Amino acid sequence: TQTEMEGRYQDVWVLIDEEDDVETWDVDADLALVGRPAARQDGAARAAGRVRYTVDVRLAGMLHAAVLRSPVAHGIVRGLDLDAARSLPGVRAVLGPESELSFTARTPAFAAEPRYAGQPIAAVAADTPDQARAALAALALEIEPLAHVVDPQHALVEQRFVSDPVEEARGDVDAALAAAEVRVELEIETPAHLQTPLEPHAAVASWDGDELTAWVSTQGMFSARDELAKSFGVRKDQVRVLTAFVGGGFGGKQGAGFEALVAAELARVSGRPVRLVNDRHAEQLDGGRRAATRQTIRLGARRDGTITAIDADAVIAMGQGGWVFPVTIPARTLYRCDDVRTMTFPVKTNLRPQNAFRAPGVMEGVTAFEQAVDELASALGIDPLELRRRNHADVDQASGLPYSSKQLLWCYDRAAELAGWERREDLRGPQPDGLLRGMGCATQIWWGGGGPPSHATVRLDGDGHAQVVTGIQDIGTGTLTSARIVAAEELGLPLDRVRVSGGDTRPNVYGPVAGGSQTTPSVLPAVRSAAAKVRKTLLQLAGDVLEIAPDDLHVRDGRIRSRDGALDVDVIEVTGKLGDATIDGSGSRGPNPDGFRVHTFGCQIAQVAVDAAVGEVRVERVVAVHDVGRIVNPLGASSQVEGGVLQGMAFALTEELVLDPTTGAPVNAHLDDYKLPTIADVPEITIDFAPVPDANLPNVGAKGLGEPPIVPTAAAIANAFAHATGRRCAALPLTRARVL
Ligand code: MOS
Repeated sequence: TQTEMEGRYQDVWVLIDEEDDVETWDVDADLALVGRPAARQDGAARAAGRVRYTVDVRLAGMLHAAVLRSPVAHGIVRGLDLDAARSLPGVRAVLGPESELSFTARTPAFAAEPRYAGQPIAAVAADTPDQARAALAALALEIEPLAHVVDPQHALVEQRFVSDPVEEARGDVDAALAAAEVRVELEIETPAHLQTPLEPHAAVASWDGDELTAWVSTQGMFSARDELAKSFGVRKDQVRVLTAFVGGGFGGKQGAGFEALVAAELARVSGRPVRLVNDRHAEQLDGGRRAATRQTIRLGARRDGTITAIDADAVIAMGQGGWVFPVTIPARTLYRCDDVRTMTFPVKTNLRPQNAFRAPGVMEGVTAFEQAVDELASALGIDPLELRRRNHADVDQASGLPYSSKQLLWCYDRAAELAGWERREDLRGPQPDGLLRGMGCATQIWWGGGGPPSHATVRLDGDGHAQVVTGIQDIGTGTLTSARIVAAEELGLPLDRVRVSGGDTRPNVYGPVAGGSQTTPSVLPAVRSAAAKVRKTLLQLAGDVLEIAPDDLHVRDGRIRSRDGALDVDVIEVTGKLGDATIDGSGSRGPNPDGFRVHTFGCQIAQVAVDAAVGEVRVERVVAVHDVGRIVNPLGASSQVEGGVLQGMAFALTEELVLDPTTGAPVNAHLDDYKLPTIADVPEITIDFAPVPDANLPNVGAKGLGEPPIVPTAAAIANAFAHATGRRCAALPLTRARVL
C-alpha cells in the first residue's frame, strides 16, 4: 500500500490477516467509553513527579558528557588540544573531528569547519559534569572565522540553494491573473521558530558486550533503535531503546539524534554508561528550528469572489539543509482553483539544518496564504468567512482525488456560531477601555490519516485484567490513554481493568514515529483489532463455560451477558478457569483505502485587542473547530488543541530566533529573551470537533490531531489584527516594534 507522513508518500508492504479487518464503528454506534472524557492513566504519577524521563536516568558508574560547540557561524578550527583534555582527572573519552567514529549517520558528527553557531566540534565524557566542563576548556579551541550568510535575501541573490528551486503548476496562472477582475498581492515574512521542548534532547547509553541499551528522549524509539543498530554494526535485536516518557518533541526529536549516537559512541570508547543532555542554550542553538520564510502571494478573482488565479513564492531559510517543507501546499490545495503556480526557493544559510516542527511547512504556508485571502476579501467587500465558503474545494486540488472525509463547511458554521462572527463589526466601534478590537478567521488543512505498519498485542489474564502492548512513545499527548479507551471498549472491560504500555522496543511490537499526527490513526486500529480477537476467544470460552452459544453472548462493563438478559456474570467467572494462562491476541493496522486523500480540516477564529499607545497585541479569545474524524478522548483532544493554539499564538506574537547579522550567531538562544507564552498570556479557548468519524479509515475512524490546531492560529490572529487596526504587518511576530 501507499503511506503518507507529513506529506511524503511511500510504498510499503503490509502483512495483515483477515481478522484484522474489523468493521468501523459507525457514527451512531452505542459506545460505552470511546468519545467520553478520561483522565490519563499516568496523570497522577506525572503530576506527582513520580515518572522518570530520560533526563532522570542515573546508572551506576555513569559518565557525564559535554559537547564543545562552534561559537561562530562559519569558521575553521586552527587549534584543538584533545590530548590536554584526555589527560585531565576523571576524563574517560574524548571525540573530535579526527576521531575514528563507528557511526556515520551524521557526517561529520564533529566539524573541523563548522558552518553554524552551535555546531558540535568535540565531545567528552567524564566522571562528573564539572570534570566534563573542565575538559571542554582544556581543549583550548582556536577558530578562525570565515565569511557567512544568514540573510535569506542575500542567499537568494547569490543563488545559494540546498536543492534546486521547485516550480509546481497547473493551468495558466499568468493568463488567469491578467484576466482577473480583482487582484491582490501580499508579501509576508514568518519567523524562525524553536521547538523548545520542556525536556531537552537527551540520551543515556550503556553497552553490555555487544548489546546496547539506550534511554532516548525521542519521538521515534524504533527509528532510534534502527539508526543505532546500523551505526554500530549490530542487529536490531541487540539494541533496546527505552522511551517511557518524553517531555515534548514537536518534531525536533525524530530518531536517535546526535545525542544518542554520541552517548553510545562515548560509552563504547570508555566502557562506561554515558549521559548526554543538552543544556538549554545548546537546545535552543542546535535542538531544531522551523525555518524562517518570506512568501509572496498573488491572487486573482472574479467580483463574485471566485478565486481564479493563485501564484505563490516561498523563500525558505533552510540553514545547512534538511527536508524542504511543503510551504506552498496551502496555495495549491486549500481552495478550488484551476490556474495555480507555486515556486519554492530553499536557500542555504549558516544555521543548523531546519527540522520538522508541528505541521512543518503547511503552518507557515497557511500563515501567509490566509492573510492574502483576507486581503482579497477586503478588496472584494465580501465577508472573509463567506469568501472561504464560496471557494470550498470538494476534491483534493493537487491530485483530483476525493477526500476520505471533509467537514470543513460544518467547521466554518460552528466556529462562526461559537465566536459570534455576525457581530464582529460591533468590535470595531469605540471601546470603553480605548483598545482596538478585531476578529479574524483562518482555514486549517493538514494530513494525519496514519497508516501501516503498526501493531499491538493484548493479553487478558485470569483476573479479568488486560495488558496491552504497543509501540507508542507518549510525547506528552496522552495517546496511551486513548489506546486504553479503545482496548477497553472492544474488550468490554472497565478502564481500570486495562493497562497499556509503550516506550520500549524490547517487546518488538512496532509503532510509528510520534509525528505527522499519525499515532492515533495508526496505532489505535491495531489495538482494536488485537482486542477484538481476544474478545472473540473470551466469548467462545464463555460459551463453553456457561454452556450457551457464543453468538448469544456479549461483553460490556466487565460483564458477560446473554442477549435475552437471562445470564449476567462477571468476566472473572470465565477467565478464572484459565488459572495462570492468558487469552492473547495481536493486531495489525490495515491500509487506508485506495482512491482517497486523507486530510484534516478546521477553522479558527481569533479575537484580539490592540493597545495602539504601546503596540501591545493581546489575544482575548480563540475558537477552534476541527474535523479530525472520531474523537476518542475529548479531554485529551481538547488539551491537544489548547497546546496547538498557544504555540501558534506565540508564533504570531512573540517567538522569533533573532540573528546577529555581523556574527551570524543567534542572540536569543535562551529562555529569558526568547519569549514563550505563560499562563498570563492564555486567551479563552473554545473548542469543538465535527461529530463525524471518517468512515473510510480502518476500524476507529479517527484522524490525527497533533498538528492541525497549530496550523491556522497565527493567520487568524494576524487577520484579527488587520481587522482591528486596518493595517497589515509584513512580518510576524507582531512585536511592539512592528506594531508601533
Ligand atoms: Mo512531526 S513535526 O514530528 O509531527
